[in-house]
Amino acid sequence: MISIVGAGRVGSAAAFNILRFRISDVVLVDIAENLAKGEALDMMQASPAIEFDGEVVGTNDISDVEGSEVVVIVAGLGRKPGMTRINLMNENARIVKSIVKEVIKHSPDCKLMVVTNPVDVMTYIACKISGFERNRVFGMGNILDTLRFRSYIAMELNVSREDVRALVIGEHGDSMVPLVDHSSVSGIPIKDLLKPDQIEKIVQSTRASGIEVINLKGATTHAPGVVIAIMVDAVLRGRNRVMSVSTCLNGEYGQSHVSIGVPVVLGRHGIERILQLSLHPDTQRQFENSVSIVKSAINRIRS
Ligand code: 2OP
Repeated sequence: MISIVGAGRVGSAAAFNILRFRISDVVLVDIAENLAKGEALDMMQASPAIEFDGEVVGTNDISDVEGSEVVVIVAGLGRKPGMTRINLMNENARIVKSIVKEVIKHSPDCKLMVVTNPVDVMTYIACKISGFERNRVFGMGNILDTLRFRSYIAMELNVSREDVRALVIGEHGDSMVPLVDHSSVSGIPIKDLLKPDQIEKIVQSTRASGIEVINLKGATTHAPGVVIAIMVDAVLRGRNRVMSVSTCLNGEYGQSHVSIGVPVVLGRHGIERILQLSLHPDTQRQFENSVSIVKSAINRIRS
């Protein structure tokens, strides 16, 4: 069983994807008394059509997370047009801290998956407050950025998105680092298929992709919802997926006291291992810039 704390648009999209792919039973928690209950009822009524026979429960009682293998923290303020993810920081830090304290009381053996923005800062807070081994705490990181990067590469080349493999590391934010040298189409490096100005355009579109959706519809929902389902699937089924996840570093990539997106193996124990890449010096500098942005945000949190 897994729990999702926060039954807003992303939390409920995640829950429905988890049911639709028959990954797990879901407990959906929200402080708004009727929201989680209403979402769960709505999903239960859709269950015959998606051939899901498990349980989906809506509750406003956080103690119902008891026994969860994974607790996904989505609650918090979302970005509005004109806001950066960092703008949300202090209020969301307060929310995430109080949720983590409750979750560890009721589900001390769970893995904590953080989605609330700014996700790298919130993942670091969750690591600190929970005191969990760091493999059990991870944030959504750059998986969403990577999906967007893949989508734009596929669109530019007019090829199947399925055949595009790519990676983004660093902050889930404006300083993210799309790894052009590690991106390919069925094994063919994108540098062999695209001109530098096309690649630059794709990189810029990737960085702007979240805010572009927010400016149009007020929030991103489908893409983060499906990413949460993919991550839960990786853990519950022990699939050892290789993805760029926000991870508390302890010397890897020369960094500590920060959580930031790096490629990891995501499986039954959460982060099974961190994959160390040797980066081109320019890319390493971009990554270090991204780390320093997240670190300075962490240091600016009012405790
Ligand atoms: C996104 O990139 C809002 O961070 C969220 O979709």
